[in-house]
Amino acid sequence: MKSLLLNSGVSMPCIALGSWAGSAPKERARASSWLLTGLEAGYRHIDTAGLYGTEGAVGEAIRQSGIARQDLFVTTKLPWHHTKRVRESIEESLKRTGLDYFDLYLIHWPQTLVYENDNPTPLNADGSLALDESCDFNDTWREMEKALASGKVKSIGVSNFSIKTLEQLLKTAKVMPAVLQIEIHPYLVQNELVKWCKDKDIVVVAYAATGYAVVREDPTIIALASKYNVTPTQIVLSWHIGRGTGIVTKSENVGRQKENLEVIELHEEDARRIDALDKNRRLSIKPDKQGRMFGWSFDRLGWQEEHAPHTEVKL
Ligand SMILES: NC(=O)c1ccc[n+]([C@@H]2O[C@H](COP(=O)([O-])OP(=O)(O)OC[C@H]3O[C@@H](n4cnc5c(N)ncnc54)[C@H](OP(=O)(O)O)[C@@H]3O)[C@@H](O)[C@H]2O)c1
Repeated sequence: MKSLLLNSGVSMPCIALGSWAGSAPKERARASSWLLTGLEAGYRHIDTAGLYGTEGAVGEAIRQSGIARQDLFVTTKLPWHHTKRVRESIEESLKRTGLDYFDLYLIHWPQTLVYENDNPTPLNADGSLALDESCDFNDTWREMEKALASGKVKSIGVSNFSIKTLEQLLKTAKVMPAVLQIEIHPYLVQNELVKWCKDKDIVVVAYAATGYAVVREDPTIIALASKYNVTPTQIVLSWHIGRGTGIVTKSENVGRQKENLEVIELHEEDARRIDALDKNRRLSIKPDKQGRMFGWSFDRLGWQEEHAPHTEVKL
């Protein structure tokens, strides 16, 4: 599988299998069976997070696969309520997976939530998420840099950051993030941020990379699928790889897992046709009624307001 070289010197397989499995403990535990079929189908990069509750399932699937650790790339993420306890949180994630290092460790979100009995969604009396303003991501990054020096994580990066928050991070960072993981698909192409990262040698990884059914059913994507004799998803995933970004896709179905590994080369003019589909529309995570994403406004996140209102998304 094609790889991308990170600024840490580590090589990262450019297609990862995602492991978000919903919030039900049963579903999360069941993830080990479809993560195993993914490894058997050829995935060598698995994306998980402390918040997903699937680190144990990832470890289980890896053990069952019999694949040597050095042949795998495992990404996990620091939960937003653990930002003051980076070292402890890494140890806990390692314990859950049964691994002794992670290839990539990301700050999952720029915001810090209160740490309270390890509850990932601590609430204020009014029902809003309880933010902890006594810690910022510059503080957390210093601890991430220490974790890198410890060897328990081979590369460090961030997720859901923007040019605004990355610029703030770089004011104090000694180590440049190796990766930025964000939502990208043909309806949210993020050209400016992708270019900014390229200039800084930060590899961008797209989540919600398929763009779900709404993008699969776009007439331009359907026409290109027919032109190249591949599926609409393969057109979308090939577009990502062609622009030099990594992707994380999740499927529980072995047929779709295999489909998502088969990318092709698109002609330049077809890639530009896909670029032109941009609607600056987020499909993955919805802001709350006040327009906040997990307690932060779009302005604070440095995210552009969307051109279109958020609608229900068919997966
Ligand atoms: N950093 C972050 O904040 C963040 C946020 C969101 C996600 N992520 C990561 O990114 C991963 C993927 O994100 P995502 O699940 O939102 O996006 P996705 O992989 O683009 O979409 C997954 C959905 O699409 C379906 N699907 C997958 N491949 C398909 C295909 N070829 N044809 C038709 N349907 C297909 C899956 O159903 P089936 O399972 O039935 O195939 C599932 O419902 C997550 O698991 C997680 O690891 C990270």
